[in-house]
Amino acid sequence: MEYRENALSYEDYCRLRKSVSWQLFSKEQMREAISRSLYTITAVEDGLTVGMGRLIGDGMYYLLADLVVHPAYQERGIGTGIANRLMKYVEDKTPAGGRSSLQLIAEKGKEGFYEKLGFKRIPHEFCGSGMRKIIRKAPTSLS
Ligand SMILES: CC(C)(COP(=O)(O)OP(=O)(O)OC[C@H]1O[C@@H](n2cnc3c(N)ncnc32)[C@H](O)[C@@H]1OP(=O)(O)O)[C@@H](O)C(=O)NCCC(=O)NCCS
Repeated sequence: MEYRENALSYEDYCRLRKSVSWQLFSKEQMREAISRSLYTITAVEDGLTVGMGRLIGDGMYYLLADLVVHPAYQERGIGTGIANRLMKYVEDKTPAGGRSSLQLIAEKGKEGFYEKLGFKRIPHEFCGSGMRKIIRKAPTSLS
């Protein structure tokens, strides 16, 4: 398995999201999001991209997003390989004496995968629940 840095293409991004039945965003949003990622990792086997993960962030707070391994390649350590590389990026960028907060929203049932990587479920004794709001916009009559 080869792990590549910052080589995520729009086509692979869409294909991998579809492989796990995740909805797509608009084409413009997905293209811009990929190009504005801080860091991406793709897992490539025999020339085929079989996994991906992205980091978004500002040097203090980071979001681990779009971690996907194609179903035919799951349970082979690839998801862990991608996540470890994303975590190492954050560790390398964190200055001596500083700290970084790496956050994510686990898919239902995937919490155990992240716990093995050292993530803690929230809420816990120091944190309330994670929260999010989805903002949708209806298409215009021209689109
Ligand atoms: C979650 C996902 C990325 C894991 O990738 P993967 O390559 O199959 O994971 P790995 O093979 O590296 O698994 C590592 C360990 O986590 C375990 N694991 C995998 N899925 C798990 C789950 N849902 N709950 C608990 N443990 C899990 C594996 O059994 C393995 O344990 P081991 O080290 O004791 O053998 C993959 O299942 C996936 O793409 N799922 C669909 C998309 C998704 O849900 N992404 C996460 C978004 S938050």
